[in-house]
Amino acid sequence: MNIPFSPPYIDKDVLDEVLDTLQSGWITTGPKVKALEKLSAEIAGVQQALCINSWTSGAMLVMKWLGIKEGDEVIMPAYTYAATALAVLHAGAKPVMVDVLDDFTINPEAVRKAITPATKAVITVDIAGWPCDYNSIKKVLKEEVDKFVPANEVQQKLERPLLMADAAHSFGAVYYNKPASLAADITVFSLHAVKNITTAEGGVIALNLSTPFDNEAVYKWMRLNAMNGQTADALTKTQKGNWRYDIVSDGLKINLTDVCAAIGLAQMRKYKTKLLPDRKRIFNHYSRFFATKDWAIVPPAINTERESSYHLYLLRIRGVTEVQRDKIIQLVADAGAAVNVHFVPLPMLTLFREMGYEIANYPVAFDNYHNEISLPIYSQLTDEQCTFIEEQIEKAYNAVVK
Ligand SMILES: Cc1ncc(COP(=O)(O)O)c(C=O)c1O
Repeated sequence: MNIPFSPPYIDKDVLDEVLDTLQSGWITTGPKVKALEKLSAEIAGVQQALCINSWTSGAMLVMKWLGIKEGDEVIMPAYTYAATALAVLHAGAKPVMVDVLDDFTINPEAVRKAITPATKAVITVDIAGWPCDYNSIKKVLKEEVDKFVPANEVQQKLERPLLMADAAHSFGAVYYNKPASLAADITVFSLHAVKNITTAEGGVIALNLSTPFDNEAVYKWMRLNAMNGQTADALTKTQKGNWRYDIVSDGLKINLTDVCAAIGLAQMRKYKTKLLPDRKRIFNHYSRFFATKDWAIVPPAINTERESSYHLYLLRIRGVTEVQRDKIIQLVADAGAAVNVHFVPLPMLTLFREMGYEIANYPVAFDNYHNEISLPIYSQLTDEQCTFIEEQIEKAYNAVVK
């Protein structure tokens, strides 16, 4: 067997949509991006969604909109991908890392302890597609509101730190019977090559700000600032006689192209009917197998509050050391199945370690990490391949531990 970890889903509809764009005479930001924004907004349950060229650049734009600067603090889990923290560092602010719960999501009580007058935002991470405990986090933000010191007009309107969801993994996840993106003020999705929906590289900012914010006005501000702060986009300028433009802010240049949007558009049209159910089938296949093994800790998928987007299968092997976990991964890889680890907690990475973050301060993050193995999930994976992966994990476990 040769089972890759995360090949993209490229069917005839994707190829046709991309070809249509290539032959249309317009390949950068235009009608396909608009269509993808509309469909993303529909699935995310919000009125406004802006496509950008990555989650990372989208988060940087949100930080810019919020007026984040040196001296500000943004709270986030220690257990995430580096981009969550890098977006904050790029704004000149400090990522304040807190520990997670056993289900890998940010610990609301740890958020409470981390709030200071410098706190301007909390970034929650729906890791593997499993939504955070948003109600508890919102309750904490409300109860600690006295500490909030707004420094500009946007922050004054918010009246508390921004709640931004890192939903790089959780497009399509559910929180209390609604899209999980309705639980935060702003939700940023990733459309990177390995995500549930991809545009090769890309992202979506879903706006769900409450009054007095006007989400359409925020969308317009963000669109402008995703394109050099230029008043007329390239497509508008191609219309005859319509050449005049102005630069009105020091915007980023992070717009998504139509060629890339075409890939995601074709995928997104079948997300709810095919791609998401396929992911669920694979997730449940693994869970049926591992739930019968006393050495396996099965990740959460669904309960009365939440349903995952089934992005990653974060299996944990009870009682193994990091070295044993790595040996299991090697044996499974040798047998022909690619498995992975999501993620090395941020304080264990050189950049953050050298900045003074210490993994000893995040015991649950380390505990979740050291025995974690991510199994592949994607539409093309057959039940036979799932069975093979399960058997290889069990075989490797027996070889390494017993
Ligand atoms: C949790 C998390 N946040 C952010 C990102 C960054 O996404 P992008 O590559 O689209 O910038 C990733 C990408 O893997 C991620 O896993």
